[in-house]
Amino acid sequence: MDRLRIVPKPLKTELLGGEISINASDAVFSIEEKLGKEEYVLTADQNGIRISGGSEQALFYGRQTLLQMKGICPCVRITDKPAHEYRGFMLDCVRHIFSVDDIKKLIDAAASLKMNRFHWHLTDDQGFRIWLDSRPSATIEGSVRKRSEFGSLKEEGEYGGYYTKNQMREIVDYCAERFITVIPEFDIPGHCSALIHAYPDIGCTEKPVEVKTHQGIFEDILCAGKDKTFEIVHDILSEILEIFPSEYIHIGGDEAPKAKWKECPDCQRRIRQAGLKNEEELQGWFTNEIVSFLKSKGRKAIVWNESLKSGLIGGETVVQMWMDPKKDSVAFANSLGGKIIVSDFFHYYCDYPYSMTPLNKTYNYKAVIKGIKNPETVYGVEVPIWTEFINNFEHLCYMFFPRFAAVAESGWTAEENKNAEDFRKRFRSYCAILSKIGITAAPPHEWNPSPLARATGTIGFMNRNVRNKPKNK
Ligand code: ACM
Ligand code: ZN
Repeated sequence: MDRLRIVPKPLKTELLGGEISINASDAVFSIEEKLGKEEYVLTADQNGIRISGGSEQALFYGRQTLLQMKGICPCVRITDKPAHEYRGFMLDCVRHIFSVDDIKKLIDAAASLKMNRFHWHLTDDQGFRIWLDSRPSATIEGSVRKRSEFGSLKEEGEYGGYYTKNQMREIVDYCAERFITVIPEFDIPGHCSALIHAYPDIGCTEKPVEVKTHQGIFEDILCAGKDKTFEIVHDILSEILEIFPSEYIHIGGDEAPKAKWKECPDCQRRIRQAGLKNEEELQGWFTNEIVSFLKSKGRKAIVWNESLKSGLIGGETVVQMWMDPKKDSVAFANSLGGKIIVSDFFHYYCDYPYSMTPLNKTYNYKAVIKGIKNPETVYGVEVPIWTEFINNFEHLCYMFFPRFAAVAESGWTAEENKNAEDFRKRFRSYCAILSKIGITAAPPHEWNPSPLARATGTIGFMNRNVRNKPKNK
């Protein structure tokens, strides 16, 4: 079986006796309707290589498996399908921008690991990275920050950039050819300093706001009381929908402090007029306004789990769980049958060092999180990377891999079939494919640091980045 080291691990592998020399270009493909949309059967024996699948996407996955089989292999029948429907990765292109070519490398890796979603984080306090024809100021004004001071990663001089419509469409098409859906994120109402910088009149105070130069949670959020806010947000979303055909659009909803809403006459009027109890409910109301707008265009929303604090989010909206001490996501899934995407901060966030989040911790985390009554409510998993402390592609890959592949395996492989030691062996073989793509993973001795290295690494990271943070302004 040593020559059948496939990542993610297939559901069932039967040895048929004998050996065969693998030549991927000899494979014969056929659609078989009785198989599921993402299910395939790969047979390699003396009669050659045959892949049958329930759809073109399933055949694509069969081919990805075949591409990991090299040289002389045992004759084999692999019967395979995913454990979860949603298998994604998230890239923050705000704090640092990555080129279309580099993003394509991540997409190639995701496709080869049978992932099917790319969540593209495109707007935040430190930049607005989507070109818009209807609202050019959002990008012209909002895409540039004066300098960067992310902990010890300090870069003097203006930092700016955005993706043109052609570039975004190029990514959408590149993904579609690999059966990956791009889910753009327009993060509202919090994390909007860059947008408010361009349009101060959609903030509560209407005072100028800087495009932020450091990480943090900032009090200037979109005003939920002014109609102008919705005019601009609708314009932006309308253009986003033109570029991105995905059923779901991510509308953020994380980390939205309510201090400005508490003092804003417009927000307070909205609370009274809409019969809401407080500012948390105002966020729920705001989200539902956007959900209705998306629904009128035939789309749906994904939100981060803080949006659930309002108690007003309906079961048609998908919730991405990242930091949820009160288990609102579990309650949402259990009471409304709402779908959740699992991206737990302590296990899946790849911007944190291996000393804080070792590979085994990521790998062993169970996608069907504690308390979930119906496993079907777990839509799937997503591995995020935020880029405050990552300003080049090499470092991005070092932080992402192998944890990226560990989450891909948690999305594809049934829990009872997973094994961390076996995964590490298979991933070492898989590095040859990553290397062809242009990706270098962290070296194996760094994946699971010793307890001492974990402590010193964590303290070092905190000292460099978190304690070294300028005060929010
Ligand atoms: C998040 O990490 N603020 C979703
Ligand atoms: Zn307001």
